[in-house]
Amino acid sequence: MSFTVAIDGPAAAGKGTISKAVASHFGFAHLDTGLLYRAVGAKVIHGMDPLQAARTLTPRDLEADDLRTSAVAQMASKVAVIGEVRGALVAFQRSFAARDGGAVLDGRDIGTVICPDADAKLFVTASAETRAERRFKELQARGQADTFDQVLADVKARDARDAGRTEAPMVAAGDAVLLDTSEMSIDDAVAAAIKAIESSRSGG
Ligand code: DC
Repeated sequence: MSFTVAIDGPAAAGKGTISKAVASHFGFAHLDTGLLYRAVGAKVIHGMDPLQAARTLTPRDLEADDLRTSAVAQMASKVAVIGEVRGALVAFQRSFAARDGGAVLDGRDIGTVICPDADAKLFVTASAETRAERRFKELQARGQADTFDQVLADVKARDARDAGRTEAPMVAAGDAVLLDTSEMSIDDAVAAAIKAIESSRSGG
């Protein structure tokens, strides 16, 4: 049996944490689709053509250890504007979604483009300041030198590019449950996500 959960939303809204927790709660597999774009972005930074990078991407590339930097995040958002790059990554995401045993995919266009028929859809948001604060702390913990203002500017630039592009822009699917995590603890956000998915599972 396949059961697909689509979790979309802007950078650092808590999608990753929620997706992992939800996947482990239901025993589903999890794909962070941002990693696909980050892996392409990292290859482009190293000089490869974006389309070639997308077409030759392998699961191993998703394990590269420089994918979490701000520079890679920005480049990921830039290559994600290119329709052919997105197209080259569709089949992998759809086959992941269709696997037996259930799957959680998180990204920007999962509920709208990749899996419009997903069994449950969430759109996770938080204010830009809250998201920048969270990302700033993460980067600090990893010893990266970005200032809060830089992180906030990066988050806003990515939001504008991801939401403003023509091809598969970041937008909540009409049938997605909206979850604003600005004032929520991680535990509360995870509990709310699980509840929303449970109600889709029981047909409600
Ligand atoms: O989720 P993330 O921050 O790791 O994603 C990095 C970039 O990749 C994001 O700014 C836009 C792009 N992306 C996308 O266009 N579509 C997706 N499904 C996931 C990510």
